[in-house]
Amino acid sequence: MTQDELKQAVAQAAADYVAKHAPAGSIIGVGTGSTANFFIDALAPLKDRYKGAVASSEATRLRLEGHGIPVLDLNDVDDIPVYVDGADEIDAGLNMIKGGGGALTREKIVAAVAKTFVCIADGSKLVETMGKFPLPVEVIPMARAHVARELVKLGGRPQERAGFVTDNGNLILDVHGLAITDPKGLEAQINQITGVVTNGLFALRPANICLLGTPEGVRTLG
Ligand code: A5P
Repeated sequence: MTQDELKQAVAQAAADYVAKHAPAGSIIGVGTGSTANFFIDALAPLKDRYKGAVASSEATRLRLEGHGIPVLDLNDVDDIPVYVDGADEIDAGLNMIKGGGGALTREKIVAAVAKTFVCIADGSKLVETMGKFPLPVEVIPMARAHVARELVKLGGRPQERAGFVTDNGNLILDVHGLAITDPKGLEAQINQITGVVTNGLFALRPANICLLGTPEGVRTLG
């Protein structure tokens, strides 16, 4: 199976999960990235059952609207039963690195509101220790150099994502060389650096389940 076929399989499994667990008339949280895009396509046939979706990025908003799925402002929503999103890395405790697409902050906000976070990923994303994938950190532009110096003190090698501006108008520093043995501690520590908006560790609010695409079928973790 190709990686895209694995992503499609988990996207369909997530749409089946939503159909089973999200009540009719509710609002679905939708993530960002290539796996989330397959999920949006799989969600489209169910659109009349739901009131709409909350999008974790402008790209996701456009794709949802392209399918005729209404997109709501999160401030008008107080309950998201299920949030479906991809990951760049996930460990056995369902901690994740996210933000390869640069949407980490809005993803973290939607995840904070959601009752159940369903991570969808192909099997290559499952790792023992996170950190091989550079950790994205969203930074207020004037704080770039200060935050980079602080990240070096933590043992990382930050690199500005060239030519990239987030949906919130900020920069991304991708931090290489971290062996993340304490995901919760590191998530909190990086978020304490003045000028950081948030970082791509999702350990203080990990996924509740992970649908993992393997050649043998979709495995459920958690
Ligand atoms: C977007 O900012 C990310 O958090 C994505 O969810 C993550 O990068 C996974 O993307 P793919 O599904 O494209 O691998």
